[in-house]
Amino acid sequence: MKFQHDHLISLAAEIFAAAGCQPDEAHRVGRRLVEANLVGHDSHGVIRIPSYVEWLRNGKVLANQPIRIVSENDVIAVVDGQFGLGQSVGETAIQLGINKAAQQGVSVIALRNAGHLGRIGDWAEMAAEAGMISLHFVNTSGAGMLVAPFGGIDRRLSANPFTAGVPAGEGKPIILDMSACTVAEGKIRLALNQGKMVSDGCLIDSEGNPTNDPRHFYGDPPGAILPISGHKGSGLSLIIELLAGALTGSSCTNPENAWRVANGMLSIIIDRSFFGSANEFFPEMERFVTFVKSSRTVIDNGEILMPGELEQRTRARRLESGIELDEITWKQICETCQLLDIKHGFAEADLTVQTFQDSQITMPGCEPISGKSGSRIHE
Ligand SMILES: NC(=O)c1ccc[n+]([C@@H]2O[C@H](COP(=O)([O-])OP(=O)(O)OC[C@H]3O[C@@H](n4cnc5c(N)ncnc54)[C@H](O)[C@@H]3O)[C@@H](O)[C@H]2O)c1
Repeated sequence: MKFQHDHLISLAAEIFAAAGCQPDEAHRVGRRLVEANLVGHDSHGVIRIPSYVEWLRNGKVLANQPIRIVSENDVIAVVDGQFGLGQSVGETAIQLGINKAAQQGVSVIALRNAGHLGRIGDWAEMAAEAGMISLHFVNTSGAGMLVAPFGGIDRRLSANPFTAGVPAGEGKPIILDMSACTVAEGKIRLALNQGKMVSDGCLIDSEGNPTNDPRHFYGDPPGAILPISGHKGSGLSLIIELLAGALTGSSCTNPENAWRVANGMLSIIIDRSFFGSANEFFPEMERFVTFVKSSRTVIDNGEILMPGELEQRTRARRLESGIELDEITWKQICETCQLLDIKHGFAEADLTVQTFQDSQITMPGCEPISGKSGSRIHE
């Protein structure tokens, strides 16, 4: 089924308001989830509504939480998200970082105990919109224990995204937004919902054997995700845990915290204008991007994409043609509406752009694949 993005935002806002959020917060969370769908990261979009609502209902995440400043100077702030919704406390923390960087040239924000921060590229985009370069290191302290270390079988690390954004003057910013593991957990969940297999080299089963089947990952005992690029990705993941978990005070992956999802995020925000004139930086950036893109391509008529470019194109397309949701995701959202006694605003006739039949889904770096059961999903 396909939905217009603004209808999905309204529905999500209605759901979060019914779950206890003030209207501003309900809209902010809904908007950021739908934004993840718009840029193609369905794993971090409205598929999360049922679990966010469940966490709100059982107190694992709290509505309308302000951030608490633990310590602060002109450049650094240690900020406690107090287990508020990540889309809310994350936005406040990044705005604080932007304000400090605008005054001092650089800022470091250590956010601890945030609810799930969603798509981390959001925060780099927010900084880029304010003209700032930014780096973000994110871990999950407990329930995100998903990834086996290099050479290991057992889950010991979280997905640990690293995100960086560089504004490009008049053009679109470069946004590198990647987890340090081969596949984001939300995408395994999506594959499970869609009856698909996960690409080679992403998962091991509970005995350490390679597998493509998402059911092995969610089995009892469970399997694990592999880090990207073997020992290098495993090392990167470890550093991200230390910066986002230990330095922020949010805690590195720890099975004792497994009852709740909480993100820690270390953000470094840089005001480029302190480092030289726009007339030096942007032309050099443009020259270099053009040079990189001028490489011969492996496939005929191929194209070199910049980080974030795929998402920018997907966004333009989905703004126009709508957001496709699989039937299970939609059914789960409808069940959440029923749970919250929401009757108004989610009649399919109002929301549906067109009926979802047999989808062709394009994944980064992959050719289009059939949406039929048994096909592969790479993300
Ligand atoms: N909140 C959390 O705890 C958490 C945890 C893990 C992941 N995430 C989010 O999950 C999302 C998915 O992460 P992921 O690792 O699956 O991302 P991904 O593999 O889809 O993309 C990673 C990066 O590669 C770029 N890219 C993709 N295809 C490309 C191509 N063909 N050429 C050039 N560049 C290309 C993308 O623009 C992106 O910057 C991210 O938004 C991340 O922030 C969040």
